[in-house]
Amino acid sequence: MAMHDGRLTPSYRLVAKVVKKIRNEAPTETDVSAEGDDREKRWLKFTTLWSFGSCDPRFGFQYPGRIPGQVVLNTLYYFTHPNDLIVDPFGGSGTTLDACRHLGRRCLAYDLEPAREDIVSYDISLGFPKEAQGCDLIFLDPPYWRQKRGRYTKKEGSFSEANLVAFNRKMKKLISDAYDTVRPGGIVTLLIQNTTELGGEFTRLGKIYADHVFDCYAYFIKTGFTPVQRIGVPLTWEQFACRRSRL
Ligand SMILES: C[S@@+](CC[C@H](N)C(=O)[O-])C[C@H]1O[C@@H](n2cnc3c(N)ncnc32)[C@H](O)[C@@H]1O
Repeated sequence: MAMHDGRLTPSYRLVAKVVKKIRNEAPTETDVSAEGDDREKRWLKFTTLWSFGSCDPRFGFQYPGRIPGQVVLNTLYYFTHPNDLIVDPFGGSGTTLDACRHLGRRCLAYDLEPAREDIVSYDISLGFPKEAQGCDLIFLDPPYWRQKRGRYTKKEGSFSEANLVAFNRKMKKLISDAYDTVRPGGIVTLLIQNTTELGGEFTRLGKIYADHVFDCYAYFIKTGFTPVQRIGVPLTWEQFACRRSRL
């Protein structure tokens, strides 16, 4: 997560404490109308480890690379206010859109190949659309390079079809475009995981591991962002299927 201007922010614990205090004093409409789970905000995390065993079915739908809506809820809770404008250029199944509606935030969502009608068809490699200018938070959940190659769109411009050099170039431009788009003091979040591959392009490049977290962190700093938090979001919601071999 990174902030647009050079201001230092207090520690995560302090932010959590203060925000909780402020928000709990004035329950929102959502708090009042939602079912028990949301009144109690069981999805709320108080450490920098946001681990969820499954995706809340209210946010998004089964889709390659779908994230638990609880991750977006925590992001919105800690880093935005009601009615803020959130922009998600990698909309996927619309998890961010649904979470924003749930917590009363406005949201613009895009995808190279939209999976639902409220996501606009757009290639974010071209820069952010005009209507995103001055937004409060940009939520970036791009393909983690080739981890799901062939499962997302294969259209030209797809982040998951690029080679490593092109992917890094795209990420660098994306982060710089995000800087020019978010309002001063606004927040840009990036969800990304490192990748390990055997063979193929990696062999030719003499490596088996790409540290996307490190690379992108460097792009954020070079662009002029101030880091706010690094939050661990383990992929525990992913399901792996194995065939049991016959004995
Ligand atoms: C990790 S998924 C997003 C999942 C989403 N957060 C969810 O919970 O459903 C990444 C998305 O990026 C999209 N994508 C890839 N390249 C893109 C591009 N150049 N512009 C916009 N979207 C792109 C893919 O189609 C895919 O839906």
